[in-house]
Amino acid sequence: MRALVAGEAGEPSDVLRLESRPVPTPETGQALIRVHATPIHASDLHVLRGRYGFAPEFPTVGGHMECVGRVAALGPDTEGRKIGERVVAAALPAVPGPPMAGTWQEYLAIDTRRLLTVPDHLSDSDACQLAVNPLTALLLVTHELDVQPGEWLLQTAAGSTVGRLVIQLARHLGIRTINVVRRRDAVEEIKALGGDEVICTEDENLLQRVAEIAGSAGVRKAIDCVAGQVGAQVSQALAPGGELVVYGALSTHRQTDPAALTIPLQARSVIYETKTVRGFWLNRWFGTASPEEALRALSQVRGLVADGVLSIPQGRPFPLEHFPEAVALAEAPARDSKPLFVFEDDREGDNG
Ligand SMILES: NC(=O)c1ccc[n+]([C@@H]2O[C@H](COP(=O)([O-])OP(=O)(O)OC[C@H]3O[C@@H](n4cnc5c(N)ncnc54)[C@H](OP(=O)(O)O)[C@@H]3O)[C@@H](O)[C@H]2O)c1
Repeated sequence: MRALVAGEAGEPSDVLRLESRPVPTPETGQALIRVHATPIHASDLHVLRGRYGFAPEFPTVGGHMECVGRVAALGPDTEGRKIGERVVAAALPAVPGPPMAGTWQEYLAIDTRRLLTVPDHLSDSDACQLAVNPLTALLLVTHELDVQPGEWLLQTAAGSTVGRLVIQLARHLGIRTINVVRRRDAVEEIKALGGDEVICTEDENLLQRVAEIAGSAGVRKAIDCVAGQVGAQVSQALAPGGELVVYGALSTHRQTDPAALTIPLQARSVIYETKTVRGFWLNRWFGTASPEEALRALSQVRGLVADGVLSIPQGRPFPLEHFPEAVALAEAPARDSKPLFVFEDDREGDNG
């Protein structure tokens, strides 16, 4: 089978190679998944750079987040799954031990507790992006910040997949969003999606605009996945007692200088206005949530996507051989869709 492998940590375009490997044999408690589609997230590339929240052992197959496929075989004495069942494989729910094997390969042997059944009517593009970003959006808005109907929520990188899902979820829940984008071209798109207000950092002052929109006191709740100076400005835009949850650091992804990987906070404001800045990481959440809680949240997300409340932007399919283009697209500015690796096979009756 074909697999996309990084021999060592480094820039993905330098270290990734297409390899031929034997199909893995599932052990007890594992299923063999025939992978159909799997995304290239910015975090997948960050893992390969050796700068993510966990480090795989190298050489490693790329793609440590999620995929959709069908159960092709089960390990000895392994029950609870059926051959042919359509499943999402992801870091779910709490499974101790090393991160799951990479998904950028045709077959994947994986702990059956990391599998979630998905209905056939969800496209491969939706299903392979179901576990990470929609769940993150749901948890940020409803668990981490418990944003109430009518409240403002300020968010950065509003055009990202998570950002778009936050807008849709907020609209569904009656929450008002202030959306920060870095390109003027993105403004109309975000408004059309239901974003109440949009701030474009290309030509607008974030702090001034937040004050105009939400009042001079600022907003009580914010989420940020850019970090650096943008994250710092979001922290300044918080009202006294306000909360900022940082869940990504897009502005740092290509940097190697550890001193640059910061969010400069104003100490006086943090102290005297008792602002809270804290992090969120889905992997850690899975480690703390009970398996029941994790499955409940995932089922809720699956329902929101299946019912059309959350629409995940359609990914752009690439065969594994075209990985240089796919990897380049993953972090390209102003790209209209997330790259997905797709694997053709002789399956019947699948969509997407
Ligand atoms: N903590 C967690 O558990 C968790 C879970 C899921 C996702 N995340 C993080 O959430 C972030 C978004 O992920 P995603 O998959 O939704 O992203 P995505 O769909 O790949 O989109 C990336 C977006 O970020 C924008 N962007 C990239 N670099 C930027 C920068 N330096 N400044 C401002 N905007 C920038 C791009 O804007 P343009 O359109 O202008 O190019 C694009 O809209 C990532 O950092 C990811 O690692 C974290």
